[in-house]
Amino acid sequence: MRTAILISGRGSNADALLSMLTQDNTPGVASLLVSNRPDAGGLALGDKYGVPAVIVDHTDYDTRDAFEDALHDVLKEYEIELVCLAGFMRLLNADFVNRWRDRLVNIHPSLLPAYKGLETHARAIEDGARIAGCTVHFVRPEMDTGPIIGQAAVPVLQDDTPESLAARTLAAEHQLYPYCVRLIAEKRVRVKEKRVLIDECPIPNGILMMPSA
Ligand code: GRF
Repeated sequence: MRTAILISGRGSNADALLSMLTQDNTPGVASLLVSNRPDAGGLALGDKYGVPAVIVDHTDYDTRDAFEDALHDVLKEYEIELVCLAGFMRLLNADFVNRWRDRLVNIHPSLLPAYKGLETHARAIEDGARIAGCTVHFVRPEMDTGPIIGQAAVPVLQDDTPESLAARTLAAEHQLYPYCVRLIAEKRVRVKEKRVLIDECPIPNGILMMPSA
């Protein structure tokens, strides 16, 4: 499955995805890295993994539609089948999202549907949440919605700052995102209405608890 990764910044999730996708034993193929920002640190991953890195700078386009058309053209040119948003900081119009329906995934640093939007870690700490986490989901036009493929939970500790919680969550993101993309590439993931069904999904044998017993 020819996969593109879209970034805007440092690209640590892109690194985790490319690391998985460039292994021999994955059905996914790392085919393209795209940044909407020419100064994104993550663009260096193209060289690291031998994957084409393309800049589609949104400031070169007068409208969001024109930018997204250019993005779509690049994805088509590389015959992309799956698009992974990994810290891609542009909202995408419904047209684009619908063109890539069920082939466009995102990672969000909260346990959706809680804490959509920005500042997820600060808000979770302020609310006194005991468990936080991250979510990989198919993208729908409304921000941070869409069928959930996978989630990983991390504890919120008493002395956490937004930065320390973000770091713990990011480590979980680097585990979760490649795992979910691998499931998609293995064609084990189906969308049924608002839910995702996974063939041969491992059945968990415990509960997540914080404070732990
Ligand atoms: C991650 O926390 C991701 O969940 C969010 O943006 C951040 C991107 O970080 N969507 P990185 O560029 O992958 O390091």
